[in-house]
Formats: sequence, structure tokens, C-alpha cells
Amino acid sequence: MQRFAAAAHELKVNSTGRKVFDLIGAEMRMVEDEFERQASSNIQVIDYLGEYLRASGGKRVRPALLILSDYASGGDATQANVIRLATVMEMLHTATLVHDDIIDNADLRRNRSSVNARFGNQTAVLMGDWLYMSAFETTVRERSLEIIDILTRLTRKMTEGELIQLTRIGRLDITESEYFDILKRKTAFLFSACCEVGAILADARPEEKAALREFGMHLGIAFQLSDDVLDLMSDTESLGKEAGSDLLEGKLTLPLIYLLEKKPHLRNDLEQVMYDGNYSAVSREYLRSMLDDDGIIMAIRERAADHSDRARKNLDVLSKSEYRSCLEDVLAFITDRKN
Ligand code: IPE
Ligand code: IPE
Ligand code: MG
Ligand code: MG
Repeated sequence: MQRFAAAAHELKVNSTGRKVFDLIGAEMRMVEDEFERQASSNIQVIDYLGEYLRASGGKRVRPALLILSDYASGGDATQANVIRLATVMEMLHTATLVHDDIIDNADLRRNRSSVNARFGNQTAVLMGDWLYMSAFETTVRERSLEIIDILTRLTRKMTEGELIQLTRIGRLDITESEYFDILKRKTAFLFSACCEVGAILADARPEEKAALREFGMHLGIAFQLSDDVLDLMSDTESLGKEAGSDLLEGKLTLPLIYLLEKKPHLRNDLEQVMYDGNYSAVSREYLRSMLDDDGIIMAIRERAADHSDRARKNLDVLSKSEYRSCLEDVLAFITDRKN
């Protein structure tokens, strides 16, 4: 698994991930410690679940972005409040994953059983709630209305994203603009908030804050476009979550929206896959070969690259630093990632 965080001996990062880790490894370890502190509780069942969530890791892209954005706009990310907010971002993210897996009925997450598969939906709902509220409790301690405002709005938007997505489940007529609306809400706003909050904690100038907010937004869009391509083109072992599940869950992502535009006759087969919950009607291999042969995967990758470029341009507002160039490395990491 490619990840920036956790004990160095656990790390299996690609070369870009390694660069990021070399630069902010100490801060990322502080985030792990803080996550541990925040998730440990005197209630035994939460302690147990907290341990389960921490051990399962994840790439920790969001806290890394907050830390790099803070440094890149002149802050000192070793300060306790920066580490705390970086941890809050990972807790919010983990809460959305715990709830998302209940909604999607997913059994596998980060290469092990999802919380719902292991402990049941009831426990998983409460665990997600607990993570949200713990994250907000920590946020409120910062006494920054600006940050509370961003994070509450963000959480509302993410929930709306999941709700809108539910109304589009099983729909083959989902439009590109509906797809992007859902994508921004469920993924990109969180990335954007990570970068903006990093800048706020560094007391950055308004134009720097705005630039990092936009940087995170475009990076987030590129991230989810890659996630949707990976779901179709990669395998369960590399992803640590079930590959090919978007269509089985009734979600038509951009590659398949494009495919249906080119080959409308596939409509019935795709509908049947959603209905059956398996790929008997049309195999994944066949779908993959069509997505490749028709240049659709290439087109989506180009779209992701376009958002990466738009993200990168925003960095010009910041003074040159190793942290600024590391933010560019994160962009490369995201578009090259294998999980
Ligand atoms: C998964 O996010 C959810 C999406 C936005 C696609 P990540 O791919 O960052 O998940 P972890 O944290 O590394 O497991
Ligand atoms: C990702 O949605 C965004 C979240 C808020 C979890 P997905 O449903 O695509 O995420 P994965 O693929 O399950 O990680
Ligand atoms: Mg999901
Ligand atoms: Mg996905």
C-alpha cells in the first residue's frame, strides 16, 4: 500500500510518496500519535474500534496536504494545533468511509474487513458518528470560527453528496454535470478544506488561502477521477477494496457515462449488471477492453491531468519552497497512484 504515514518499517510508498514522507515524515508520525490519542477513550468498545481503524491505516493524503499547505504558506506544522487539525481531517475522512461502506454494503476496506462487515451496521453507524463528533470537539477547541465554518459546511456538503448519489443509484441517464456535482461534494471539498485550513493556520494572505483552496479542489477532482478509473481497471488486491464495485452498487461513473455515449447499445447489459449485482451480463474484462480500445480511459486520464494542471497553476501565488514543490509531488502521486 502506498502511504505517507505510520512507522517507517511499514511504509511501502512509490518514489513520489517517499519524497513526501522524507520531507514531512516527522509531522506525519505526530499525526499518527494524535490520532491514537484522540481515538483512545475510556469506553472499551470505542477503544477497540479506534484501534481497529488506526491499525488499518490508509494513505493519509489529507493530513499530508494540510501540513504541506501550512508550511508552503509560511507556517510551522510542528505546532500542536496544526497536527491536531491534520488529524481532524483524517478523522472526518475515516468517518465518511465508515458510513460510505454501510451505504455501499462494502465488505472490504484498506485490505481488511470493513467496520460494518466486522461489527455490523449498528456499531458502524455509531462509530462514524463518534468519529465526526470527536473531530468537531477537537476543532472547536481551536476557537476559530473561520475553520469551524469551513468544516461544518464541508461535512454538510459531503452528506449531501452521498444523498444526491443515492437518488442517482441505478440510473443510466446520469449526466456529466450531475456526476461532477456528486464528485465535488463527496471528495473534492474535503481536499480543498485540508489545503485552506493549512493556510489559515499559517496566517496566510487572503490570496494564498484562495489559491490553496482552489489547488485542493482541482486536486480532489483529479483524485476521484482516478479512483473511478481504478475501480474499473484495477483489482481488489491492489486497491484494498472491492474492484468493479461502483457499477454493482448502481453507480455509473464518468468512464461508463462516456462508454454509453459511444455505445448506447450497451445500456441493457449495464442495467442488467446493476440489477444482478454481478458481471454475468457483460464481463469486466470485456468492459475494460472497450474502455481501453475506445480511448475512454485515456480521455479520463487527460481530464484528470487537466485538473492537475489547473491545481498546479494556483501554486504560483506562493513563494518558492521545498514544500511548494512537494505539493506538486502530491499531484503526481495522486495521478500515478495504484490504490
Ligand atoms: C477513499 O479515499 C475515498 C475516496 C475519496 C475515493 P482514499 O483513497 O484516500 O482512502 P485511504 O484513506 O487511503 O484508505
Ligand atoms: C468516495 O466514494 C467518497 C467518500 C465520501 C467515501 P466512493 O464510494 O467512490 O469511495 P470508495 O470507492 O468506496 O472508497
Ligand atoms: Mg464506496
Ligand atoms: Mg470509489
